[in-house]
Amino acid sequence: MTTGPSTLISGATLATMADSGPYGRIEDGAVLLENGMIAWVGAAAQAPRADRVIKASGVLTPGLLDCHTHLVYGGNRADEFEKRLNGASYADIARAGGGILSTVRSTRAASQAELVAQSLPRLDCLLAEGVTTVEIKSGYGLDVETEVKMLRAARALGRSRPVSVVTSFLGAHAFPPEYKDDRQAYVRLVCEEAMPAVAAAGLADAVDGFCEGIALSVAEMEAVFEAAIRHGLKVKLHAEQLSNLGGAAMAARHGALSVDHIEYLDEAGVAAIAASGTVATLLPGAFYYLREKQAPPLALLRQYEVPIAVATDLNPGSSPVHSLLSTMNMAAVLFGLTPAEALAGTTVNAARALGLADRGCIVPGQRADLALWDVAEPGELVYALGRNPLKAAWMGGDCVRGKP
Ligand code: NIG
Ligand code: FE
Repeated sequence: MTTGPSTLISGATLATMADSGPYGRIEDGAVLLENGMIAWVGAAAQAPRADRVIKASGVLTPGLLDCHTHLVYGGNRADEFEKRLNGASYADIARAGGGILSTVRSTRAASQAELVAQSLPRLDCLLAEGVTTVEIKSGYGLDVETEVKMLRAARALGRSRPVSVVTSFLGAHAFPPEYKDDRQAYVRLVCEEAMPAVAAAGLADAVDGFCEGIALSVAEMEAVFEAAIRHGLKVKLHAEQLSNLGGAAMAARHGALSVDHIEYLDEAGVAAIAASGTVATLLPGAFYYLREKQAPPLALLRQYEVPIAVATDLNPGSSPVHSLLSTMNMAAVLFGLTPAEALAGTTVNAARALGLADRGCIVPGQRADLALWDVAEPGELVYALGRNPLKAAWMGGDCVRGKP
């Protein structure tokens, strides 16, 4: 195989996020990029020769991954934000036909091109903060045509910008109005029509669902997961967000990549996800916006050594949060994650939540997706709110933003 020109990024503090100590830190480090991959990592003084050397300062991290977003949607729900602050609850609004169903109406009404146009500025907010991989869910269509349209819009976004887009089919997000009196028929539509269509077109990398009193039951979700597994698709779940139904343990039995939200997860649930190697994805933006009181069981997650990811949950209702750095700060302040845990949550553990073994750490053999920051310490990425210290970002070895 012929090798292209190599580039050495030299002089920054590396937060490799590999196993060795907090942040996998290397002072005055260097990273050799070759053919889009990381070829060597170590101290700058020991670095191999390269065709080109970039002198860098500050902190170099893996490119960030936002492993849970609903950033493709039509319209917005600023009106519900007002209603909640005037006393209505998220569940009240959902029961009255607002909430997710309000976004379903505006998403059905939008063309694919309109969805892309409305969603691009949201994606750009994430990319401006060093995100190089983003997961995007469907789930605001709740019919075959609109679910497919949303996933096509998500794939189109991935072609419009230097970013890897990973998609999840979330037909099991809520019951559409036309099926509210025949839930089983909707579950059949998801399993027997929408999922085969999405899988045949290669539009979904995984299947997600919302298991909650106001959404699907554990048994309904289990039927969806069994269909997913028949289609060779991995599963993940919005679970235990507002109550403890046992969704996470059911997801664990199906080898879920992640269970997300999990404020109400109990010890048995934590033990179940620990045994299945499922990632706990924390979504402090929704906790913050819904002014929840019950934080996820961090002490148990640590005790059982469950990998913890952190994501924006960017969506028009429960989490209109367009900043992964702010989300890391919220994970620390609201949930008590250490800054090192918060950064692991948007790098190594977020990659794991997406089932991606080729990114998330700065180690040889991984994709050269990197972010360089104008900070002295990695913890500063979590410490400040409203400051974006990104200097430069690389995707597959190409500098796609800023300059070092
Ligand atoms: O992750 N929990 C369910 N789904 C989304 C909310 C979607 C919405 O409110 O539109 C979430 O918080
Ligand atoms: Fe979500």
